[in-house]
Amino acid sequence: MRLLFICLVLSLFCCNYASAQSVRKTESFDANWKFMLGDDSLAKQPAFNDGKWRTLDLPHDWSIEGSFDEKNPTTQGEGGLPAGIGWYRKTFNVPSSAKDKNVFIDFDGVYRNSEVWINGHYFGKRPNGYISFSYDLTPYLNFGDRDNVIAVKVDNGDQPNSRWYSGSGIYRNVWLTTVNKTCFTKWGTFVTTPQISNNQASVHISTTIRPEGKGLSLKTTIYNEKGEAVTSNFSPLKNSSDTTLASAYNLTIKNPQFWSTDHPYLYKISLQIMQGSRVLDNITVNTGIRSFEFDAQKGFSLNGVHMKIKGVCMHHDLGALGATVNTQAIERQLQILKDMGCNAIRTSHNPPAPEFLDLCDKMGFLVMDEAFDMWAKKKTKHDYHEDWAQWHKRDLEDQILRDRNHPSVFIWSIGNEIREQFDSTGISIARELVRIVKNIDNTRPVTSALSESNPHKNFIYQSGALDLVGLNYHQEVYADFPKNYPGQKFIATETMSALETRGFYDTPTDTTRHWPQSSKVPFKQSNSEFAVTAYDNVAAYWGSTHEETWKVIKKYDFLSGLFIWTGFDYIGEPTPYPWPARSSYFGIADLAGFPKDVYYMYQSEWTNKPVLHLFPHWNWKPGQLVDVWAYYSQADEVELFLNGRSLGVKAKQGDELHINWKVKFEPGTLKIVSRKNGKIVLTQEIHTAGLPAKIELSADRKSINADGQDLSFVTVKVLDASGNIVPDADNLVDFKITGPAQITGTDNGSQISMESFKANHSKAFHGMCLLIAQAKKIGGTAIIYAQAKGLQPASLVLNVK
Ligand code: GAL
Repeated sequence: MRLLFICLVLSLFCCNYASAQSVRKTESFDANWKFMLGDDSLAKQPAFNDGKWRTLDLPHDWSIEGSFDEKNPTTQGEGGLPAGIGWYRKTFNVPSSAKDKNVFIDFDGVYRNSEVWINGHYFGKRPNGYISFSYDLTPYLNFGDRDNVIAVKVDNGDQPNSRWYSGSGIYRNVWLTTVNKTCFTKWGTFVTTPQISNNQASVHISTTIRPEGKGLSLKTTIYNEKGEAVTSNFSPLKNSSDTTLASAYNLTIKNPQFWSTDHPYLYKISLQIMQGSRVLDNITVNTGIRSFEFDAQKGFSLNGVHMKIKGVCMHHDLGALGATVNTQAIERQLQILKDMGCNAIRTSHNPPAPEFLDLCDKMGFLVMDEAFDMWAKKKTKHDYHEDWAQWHKRDLEDQILRDRNHPSVFIWSIGNEIREQFDSTGISIARELVRIVKNIDNTRPVTSALSESNPHKNFIYQSGALDLVGLNYHQEVYADFPKNYPGQKFIATETMSALETRGFYDTPTDTTRHWPQSSKVPFKQSNSEFAVTAYDNVAAYWGSTHEETWKVIKKYDFLSGLFIWTGFDYIGEPTPYPWPARSSYFGIADLAGFPKDVYYMYQSEWTNKPVLHLFPHWNWKPGQLVDVWAYYSQADEVELFLNGRSLGVKAKQGDELHINWKVKFEPGTLKIVSRKNGKIVLTQEIHTAGLPAKIELSADRKSINADGQDLSFVTVKVLDASGNIVPDADNLVDFKITGPAQITGTDNGSQISMESFKANHSKAFHGMCLLIAQAKKIGGTAIIYAQAKGLQPASLVLNVK
């Protein structure tokens, strides 16, 4: 009896996080699907023979596997890759032990118009390509040895439907959850932190349950990052025959650790439904204790500390991987941005993958979570406006419900450059959407990214429904914001649209160019390479160079911050060039993730690390006058030397963000030194490169997990005999991997390359290209080989474990 009592007490109060995990089983449902590109309406029938279809693992984007072709219906907006219709089927068994359970399937995102059947039963259609959705399979399942067949039709055939590359298929993860009949409802738990001080944080939890049976209670435990329980709560739930049961209560964390972009501290909240000593269901929610404020005069503060929002806009594609979600690929992008000093991301212009938000919570990014690129009025012929009337309420609700527990999410955006801002329909729709958001979450401000900057002409602004005025571009009006928008709070939701090709330099740099020049003057091709100089002096006519806008944002406290268009190049929207340009020029990093020079301008402004970055390369015509630029920080001055001769000492004056010299080219060594109080901080040398002689490989991670998903990004450089990168090298590099890894993508960051992203070769582009190696599901040693005609080959060992 005493033993029983002790066990009961232990299970009630000491049940730790790990053992509680076992009640609800959420497993990846990505493996072993059958896929067919094309349409066959019979494929929904369970007995359909899919034996000849291709077998693959999700997530999967069939567009990225295709070839670039001008004739592809998706040319400019999608970058010339194919779209169409595809079918997925999966045959699976559910153990008899699950007979008295609930079984749900969760799709994180399917582009687009997914239709789902289980054993011939039709669940319906979900048009929105970025929304997460779930179906209750329970009533239609066969248990034990009898097969179940799930069939999914994906229809991305009506084109155009997007202004950027969308991808096609079940491009995000799919999950199968088996749980007791009594369980937490999907997205039914909401955690907020209404009162926060250094001494304590009050954590408010509301949750809903699908009850079956009586004598239920709810146990909540909050764990710190060390896994120690810091507080808990136990409360009986009222007996009820209701189909859902709601509960709301507060817990207190003493001396809380705050979540911030520098210190993204997460608490884990474990919620358990108990019946006596039995745990019936268990979920965990990550939460961060943080407060923030937008102020009309002082701008933004996080946990009471004033800071600028230093953000970038990101589309969802992952370069050579297309839309296929991969946690490691997202983490790499975020790490590159973090190292630049970026602290915020705008998910333009759609809800992101759940893994993205988990990473932002963990790595310390603020997120502006955006819902729509259009409302009832279209931007492209077959876009979401066709589904607006039927779906916008449900889609917006589902986005807020799914994402509201993420501490990283700090702004909801109801739309980007919505056409309705120009007429009175903008008023009622904006009010309706803000109401939908606030009914679910009123802890975060709502904005809309507006392109009409005149407050009197903008009907979304006129609705009075926005908490924050989000302006896209128009940096010329920022200084007058307090006058034009009295009492309003500001965020630059989209800025710059500056243009660059990595490694391409057009000198001199005395003028700022707008490409295209205006909406009326068609862009005249500037060079046969379809390239844009990487000195920061070209932007689309609606935008600005990086330096122009950052200087203004920096200057005024009331400008809370900005989201630069864009962090990375993306597939589609190759402004200013026509086909065969097929990906964007806007990124601070190129499509392969290699930083362009301006990356270091931000690093010098946005981080405390000493920065010194000199460019361009040093291979020019003898006697040519070359503009030499440098970004630096944490130093008082810089000095440039050509072949040992000083070309003078300089320091940034006023609000200057770079230093430049005009240097008559002679081959040799260009060297720069930065100094603080007379002491050298950093030096950098650039040498005139000789002919391509060898390949160099370097991996961001040399050890990866044998899970069939994990990635190593391998940077490939073409070097001369002395080890200098050859700036114009375009050698064709062939790759081979032996052992438990495979090539899953290749790219070189060129905006006009017609090579397939799935090829086992890539041309170097300005001396560099990228190989993405993916682990198989077995461990061992993989060896990556790279060879090119006339060059010394290279190899690299990957540990797959
Ligand atoms: C903006 C738009 C973005 C992108 C960008 C290109 O107006 O919101 O989606 O198209 O222009 O400069």
